[in-house]
Amino acid sequence: MALQLGDEAPNFTADSTDGEITLYDYLGDSWGVLFSHPKDFTPVCTTELGEVARLKGEFDKRKTKVLGVSVDPVSSHKDWVGDIKDATGQALNYPLLGDPDRKIAGLYGMIHPNADNSLTVRSVFVIGPDKKVKLTITYPASTGRNFEEILRVLDSLQLAANYSVSTPVNWKEGDDVIIAPAIPDDEARAKFPKGFRTVKKYLRYTPQPNR
Ligand code: BEZ
Repeated sequence: MALQLGDEAPNFTADSTDGEITLYDYLGDSWGVLFSHPKDFTPVCTTELGEVARLKGEFDKRKTKVLGVSVDPVSSHKDWVGDIKDATGQALNYPLLGDPDRKIAGLYGMIHPNADNSLTVRSVFVIGPDKKVKLTITYPASTGRNFEEILRVLDSLQLAANYSVSTPVNWKEGDDVIIAPAIPDDEARAKFPKGFRTVKKYLRYTPQPNR
């Protein structure tokens, strides 16, 4: 069965552009984003990998380590890195895993045979410090992902983990957040000193607590 939210993220050891990596050691107590791309030397993938390099500082701010993977070998990734720099202006600043024997692709269900029998689809897995899967997204090969959205979800996940709040539709950094319905009003007053407004008994907004 496909990996689901709350499942333990499978550990693995694999070669990468930065040498051999064991996922759990690489992540330590950080958050992680493991994302697959279908194939090296392809246009959409080139733009995506450059964009993740551009956003690396944003992932760092969120104590989040990024890791790319495809079924191509590391030797191919290393040949491609120069193209990514030429095309996007970004030097690769995070590891790209090689997976020629499809070990990682198998563990994470990154090959969808009815879409393509041999290439990985565009999967994203956010992994929490507890090594549990917090987010899965799957895009087709023809659509480049929006990595700003991955950052937005990380912000939401980290607020939920640290403050027992959730984020409403189209939420963005700085907008009000929602207090978990399980927290009674008395407790909410103590926990959220900036106050809250009640729209319905189960819908209470409070200013973003970490600002
Ligand atoms: C691309 O990155 O452009 C791509 C990769 C594999 C299949 C189709 C498109």
